[in-house]
Amino acid sequence: MEVFTSIQSLRSFLHQQRSQNKSIGLVPTMGALHEGHISLLDTAKSETDITVCSVFVNPTQFNNSEDLAKYPRTLEQDCKMLEEAGCSAVFAPSVDEMYPEPPVMTFNFGTLETVMEGASRPGHFNGVGIVVSKLFNIVQADSAYFGQKDLQQVSVIRQMISDLAFPVKLVVCPTVREVTGLAMSSRNQRLSAQEKDLAANIYQIITAAKDALLNAEAVENVKQSAVEKFLALPEFTLDYIEIVDVKTLLPLDRLKTTGSTAICVAALLGPVRLIDNIVF
Ligand code: PAJ
Repeated sequence: MEVFTSIQSLRSFLHQQRSQNKSIGLVPTMGALHEGHISLLDTAKSETDITVCSVFVNPTQFNNSEDLAKYPRTLEQDCKMLEEAGCSAVFAPSVDEMYPEPPVMTFNFGTLETVMEGASRPGHFNGVGIVVSKLFNIVQADSAYFGQKDLQQVSVIRQMISDLAFPVKLVVCPTVREVTGLAMSSRNQRLSAQEKDLAANIYQIITAAKDALLNAEAVENVKQSAVEKFLALPEFTLDYIEIVDVKTLLPLDRLKTTGSTAICVAALLGPVRLIDNIVF
């Protein structure tokens, strides 16, 4: 496995690979890798010849400087995991390499970014758009792999690929969970064992909400009951729980008969913000 820190060296490596007709898969990450990330790499490996995993804590997508400062950075350990998992190349640039000047352009994803994560984290999806479009241009991958765990991020990237005709196939991979149901996340590293057990309530609550919807309970009642379950757990501060159309991400007032519904949630456990979703 090769580790690149400069755009130019990665580009020349990939140029060589492409000239040998090798297909390229890109897995963008911010590091502090766990099995969820590795599952994206495994899928990429099964579909492409050369896998590139980027490890870059992207400052432009953080609207909270404390969150950025506290974000775990474990590059050495990440490289070990990637090597063991059979990754071909790691791209781990510095902030200066990715942003020699602060970017001036901004993305506007319309209603996709005014709801949920977009409403709670102003500017977040602009930063995601900037870094992912930059990675697409640097790597020029045939396919790029993203997790359903970040459902709204997937919607935004799908829109960007479509609007800007990026020649890349978007592959969405299922959320990998702990046995308790807790969605794996780099942020879980900041939770104690006890908090991790508590955090498993998030998945239990949205699973129960899904079951209730499938049992024809009214959307409004299902949402109210989920909110009450969070209120009964004083360790949590609920940011939002939404029952939405998976395409538009806009709230539904009744269950869809065609297409999919998503239940999306964001909650703080102490200072740690956790998100999860379920699509059905
Ligand atoms: P990060 O949070 O490191 O996640 C990298 C990728 O791993 C994302 O596509 C995310 O959805 C996926 N992922 C995270 N947890 C997962 C889980 N439990 N199961 C399956 N996939 C999971 O998302 C980002 O970084 C950044 O916004 C990025 C796209 C890299 C741009 O900076």
